[in-house]
Amino acid sequence: MAILWDDKNKVFSLHTKHTTYQMKVDQFGFLLHTYYGSRIQDDASYLLVCQDRGFSPNPYEAENDRTYSLDALPQEYPFHGSGDYRTTAFDVCDGQNISGCSLKFHSHQIIQGKYALDGLPAVYADVQQAETLMITLKDERLHLDVVLYYGVLADEDVITRAVKITNRGQQTLTLAKALSASVDVLTGDLDLVHFYGRHAGERTMERTHLEHGAFSIGSYRGTSSHQHNPFVIVAERETTERSGNCFGMCFVYSGNFQCVAEKDQYGQTRVTMGIAPERFQYELAPLESFTAPEVILSYSDAGFETLSHRYHHVIRHHVCRGAYKLTRRPILINNWEATYFDFDGHKLFDIAKQASELGVEMMVLDDGWFGSRNSDNEGLGDWWVNEDKLQGSMREVSARICALGMKFGLWIEPEMVNENSKLYREHPDWAFTIPGKKPVRGRNQLVLDFSRPEVVDYVCDHIFKVLDDAHVSYVKMDMNRSISDVYSAVKGQPSEGKVLYRYMLGVYDFMERLLTRYPDLLLEGCSGGGGRFDAGMMYYSPQIWCSDNTDAISRLHIQYGTSFAYPISTVGSHVSTVPNHQTGRIVDFNTRGIVAMAGSFGYELDLNLVSDAEKQQVRQQVEAYKKYWHLLHDGKYYRLTDCERDHDKAAWMFVAEDQSEALVQIVKWTADCNGPVLYVRCRGLDPDAIYVADDGQQYSGAVLMHAGIPVRALWGEYQAYQLHFVRQNEQ
Ligand code: GLA
Repeated sequence: MAILWDDKNKVFSLHTKHTTYQMKVDQFGFLLHTYYGSRIQDDASYLLVCQDRGFSPNPYEAENDRTYSLDALPQEYPFHGSGDYRTTAFDVCDGQNISGCSLKFHSHQIIQGKYALDGLPAVYADVQQAETLMITLKDERLHLDVVLYYGVLADEDVITRAVKITNRGQQTLTLAKALSASVDVLTGDLDLVHFYGRHAGERTMERTHLEHGAFSIGSYRGTSSHQHNPFVIVAERETTERSGNCFGMCFVYSGNFQCVAEKDQYGQTRVTMGIAPERFQYELAPLESFTAPEVILSYSDAGFETLSHRYHHVIRHHVCRGAYKLTRRPILINNWEATYFDFDGHKLFDIAKQASELGVEMMVLDDGWFGSRNSDNEGLGDWWVNEDKLQGSMREVSARICALGMKFGLWIEPEMVNENSKLYREHPDWAFTIPGKKPVRGRNQLVLDFSRPEVVDYVCDHIFKVLDDAHVSYVKMDMNRSISDVYSAVKGQPSEGKVLYRYMLGVYDFMERLLTRYPDLLLEGCSGGGGRFDAGMMYYSPQIWCSDNTDAISRLHIQYGTSFAYPISTVGSHVSTVPNHQTGRIVDFNTRGIVAMAGSFGYELDLNLVSDAEKQQVRQQVEAYKKYWHLLHDGKYYRLTDCERDHDKAAWMFVAEDQSEALVQIVKWTADCNGPVLYVRCRGLDPDAIYVADDGQQYSGAVLMHAGIPVRALWGEYQAYQLHFVRQNEQ
């Protein structure tokens, strides 16, 4: 049993293979958090220390006992109204707009299998792989039920959390804050590792020391955003890549979020995660429920490397779904950077033909194939094929590509509309605009109100019509602006928070319908590159375009930050032309190939325009990717250098689960004359085994890990190396 209830001491213990999570129902019925860490058998409630704390008030139930205060005790789901002045996870207002509640333990239920969340993405598992704990807290005055969900995947070393809130009374309540998870840490000098960025520069790792006060990251853009990723690591100061204690919080949601880490007056730290409370205001009518999306927790006492392995595994096996979840993705060529909007049927075919001759397996037609879409100022929303531009129907275009032996893929941006479109002229009220106010535009487009089912229906109907009529194996689903002017022209005029939450449910519904109708489809997520690169999207799209920045050197940083939470198979990465369109940098074709291979691989240029020598390299890269994809996607990923701090090289490697094979990839940052030799130490190999390199040289696993391998300087900047090792007798 992974979940244990000690009825006598009122303690819940959630055990995974290597970790334990504990809670206790106290003498007054409050649910306290007592422990999250390496696996233990004991009851950790002896860690709770009650003392008389000035200006930390006491619940009425404590009578004259001034040593009991929820302002000082660690809690499981801290709420406003308990006398706890730290950041809370929950706040609700009654019909008179009075906030303050008292959530007390009511009951619990343990079931075999993993809970699911209606309309929301969540970790899934076979019945025997998981257990679920549901703890019901109640507020008697408000007639409010708060059910805390815990999913325990013992073999994955993962615990998930979600919350369902139901109004059982007669009056409408308003949720001011309903976060998904809160973890109180009793002691320690802690850092928050988070991943900030911007468009074309996503997920840069940053480690912030937590001082007294609150440190907060999040997004109010309606998407999880380029600016902050909804994944954080809470780490002890001395924790490193390979040692020390840390735990992660990964939000399985793609809209607004917030993570607050607060160090309190007693040196305790609380970390909360959930939908951002600012402008959230969620009205809950009698009998209505709200579900706070899931957070995936994982704990490691062996540093970030082990934590990443756990997240990679659970996301690849228990979040991603679909026909391409575990199979090799077709090597694709996308025409965006090759043509932008300037293409016709012939040009596309020429790009596809050359690519297919070099072994590329799928042609993706990006933006510009529909309506009057010849620039980014017009046409969004008009999902009918521009047959003049394509010189044929989509059926004909896709058939010509398929006749080359390639698959065919299509770009869409379903959530958007240009004012210059037939859709907007017919349904102006379907776009988010506030009556009487000029809307804020982003990329000259407005956002469709996906909280309204009729809008989602319309977009589904039109896009499905195109897909029904063509041979489409892949869809790239884009979303190219931050949301503003949130106003839904429907009865009752729900609050901004409710509209944005329902908007996300609408987007998830769109993707679910797409995948149900086309079960063999490969869906690639995108939001101006990696603006919605989160575990919520991965439930639908097993790969996401990682960044609009295709410069291989910029990608080293972006892919490094991305690797802390997300499996390599989720990272869409392409070889593009030089000088790079985003940075102007010139990087060798070989280096561009090696960096792009650390992901779901493809090309984003016109291969008719590259040299014969580079064409030959394309053939080799295609072969290499086919040979190594198993290692790249199913192997364990090891960061061998710190991309933000190491100045001579970036290195990482992949090791087969059974340690029979490994692939090391290295990029040298600089070019120097008569410089030092670079040495790279491997990880994850069997120390006692002998590994044979591609040049026949033999090494023990131990020497590769402890002494490393020398990397000779090649001519020029940003040179890349790829070293492949196979355990002896397995070649
Ligand atoms: C976004 C995407 C690009 C491309 C363009 C098309 O920026 O990230 O890859 O699809 O839109 O407009």
